[in-house]
Amino acid sequence: MRITDTSDLWWKSAVVYCLDVQTFMDWNDDGMGDFVGLNERIDYLSELGVTCLWLMPFYPTADRDDGYDITDYYGVDSRLGNAGDFVEFVRMARDRGMRVIVDLVVNHTSDRHPWFRSARSPGSPYRDFYIWRDDVPPDTSGQVVFPDKEDSLWQYDEKAGAWYFHRFYRSQPDLNITNARVRDEILKAMGYWLELGVSGFRVDAVPFVIETTGVDAEELARFHDPHAYLRELREFVGRRTGDGILLGECNLPHRDQKKFFGGADGDELTMQFDFIGMQNLYLSLAREDARPLARALKRRPKVAEQSQWATFVRNHDELTLDKLSPGERDEVFAAFGPDPEMQLYGRGLRRRLPPMLDGDPRRLRMVYSLLFSLPGTPVLFYGEEIGMGENLDIPGRLAVRTPMQWTSDRNGGFSRARPSALRRPLTEGPYGPEHVNVGDQRKDEDSLLWFVSRLIKRYRESPELGWAQFQVLDQPHRNVLAHECAHDDRRLVALHNLSAGSCTVPLTLDGCDSSHHLVDLLHADCEIDLDDRGRAEVGLDGYGYRWLRLMSEDSRRLA
Ligand code: NOJ
Repeated sequence: MRITDTSDLWWKSAVVYCLDVQTFMDWNDDGMGDFVGLNERIDYLSELGVTCLWLMPFYPTADRDDGYDITDYYGVDSRLGNAGDFVEFVRMARDRGMRVIVDLVVNHTSDRHPWFRSARSPGSPYRDFYIWRDDVPPDTSGQVVFPDKEDSLWQYDEKAGAWYFHRFYRSQPDLNITNARVRDEILKAMGYWLELGVSGFRVDAVPFVIETTGVDAEELARFHDPHAYLRELREFVGRRTGDGILLGECNLPHRDQKKFFGGADGDELTMQFDFIGMQNLYLSLAREDARPLARALKRRPKVAEQSQWATFVRNHDELTLDKLSPGERDEVFAAFGPDPEMQLYGRGLRRRLPPMLDGDPRRLRMVYSLLFSLPGTPVLFYGEEIGMGENLDIPGRLAVRTPMQWTSDRNGGFSRARPSALRRPLTEGPYGPEHVNVGDQRKDEDSLLWFVSRLIKRYRESPELGWAQFQVLDQPHRNVLAHECAHDDRRLVALHNLSAGSCTVPLTLDGCDSSHHLVDLLHADCEIDLDDRGRAEVGLDGYGYRWLRLMSEDSRRLA
């Protein structure tokens, strides 16, 4: 069937906004964000124009991995509120036309989850919920995800008298998905949140969820195809909700990611983050050379009509550069995080974008213009819209997870608790709330907040960006990315200058002549005529950006 209404597959032109309830807004003055606070700020999110809110884990947790270690799949962490507050949140979001997706963390549980507590006793009915071995494990120190804290994928447990498998921290034992009971439990938990109104899940660590390392041969034989399991999850979400999605975290080379979208009809993950595009974006920014990004985009696999790439600049983890070569990684480190305390695990940066760009507003805006014009669905991490920075005094990845900065008042307007009672300190210095906050930027039409809102508005008016037939356009400047997104009779050309010098970009647009012209969507009153061979010359300032909608004489579209 041909899909004509672009709102049908809502995720293809969504604007996703990731937030953590505990750092967004504290309403009960205990120094930690909560659902009531989030609900009080829901109009801010709706005015910003985002259409899908992704909540990081808010479940009961042992809190050794900022909520990614769950002790109860059916609960709300009591410090953040209760199930009623959650339902109220979903209702308020949906009332305002925003969908909600939640983190699904099922590669592992917390070691304090009742299943694991029981599983430690030999003979427990939950024993096979996890992956055990009796003999001494081989050296796996080269495979650990967090090398600062772990040196093996196996941990000996005295009570169990055996080693258990953990991909991440030792406090996060991996679930054994070859066990049908585990798979049923996962579906049941998903069904619960879907019934409460969520529109799908951001699925944590997907390749690890379906891996079967350490599972014994007999069990493995009963579990033939891990991808069949992903298809099962997707089918379930579809059955229960009709249009619910799975947005998967798979930091893999593009060719491997393709498998996670499923077959020709895209029957596994609905969306995947484009980690390769993101890493090459930073390489391009560091070199002021658009070619690495252009290459990554050209090589990005085409996906089924209902599948989608999720594009992003930063997320809640380290800015991983693990798929670049060591030399390329060093270039990005040198440009954006030369100080060892800015780096993490030798593979990434624990920084937000504005400090990496030395706060240069032109460059910052150019990057967000790129994010919203690249083919795919853009994902923002809270605080990006106002240009928040990191706090390097906070250990590890938490440096970028500081409280949202609402005003220049005490605690950045995030909480009325004593500053010493804040669960997570704020950012300080030039990116602290005195200088960077929502309240001030709301009053200033030239602020980043207004700029990002305008980008979101333009993005939402341009479904060709999300639905794109995409191509990189030939032009002579290596510092410029010129690309075109087309869908049906809509065509949009975007130009981005990654360097400080201005330039003029010659363009030739296929199938066009002097009956066509380009209308600049970001700069008012700017139209560019094409000649009889579809050619135009477009000027770009240093770090300049333009979104040009192609119009014909008889076009009835609003530019
Ligand atoms: C990926 C998440 O993004 C990260 O924050 C978490 O620590 C690991 N998965 C383990 O759940």
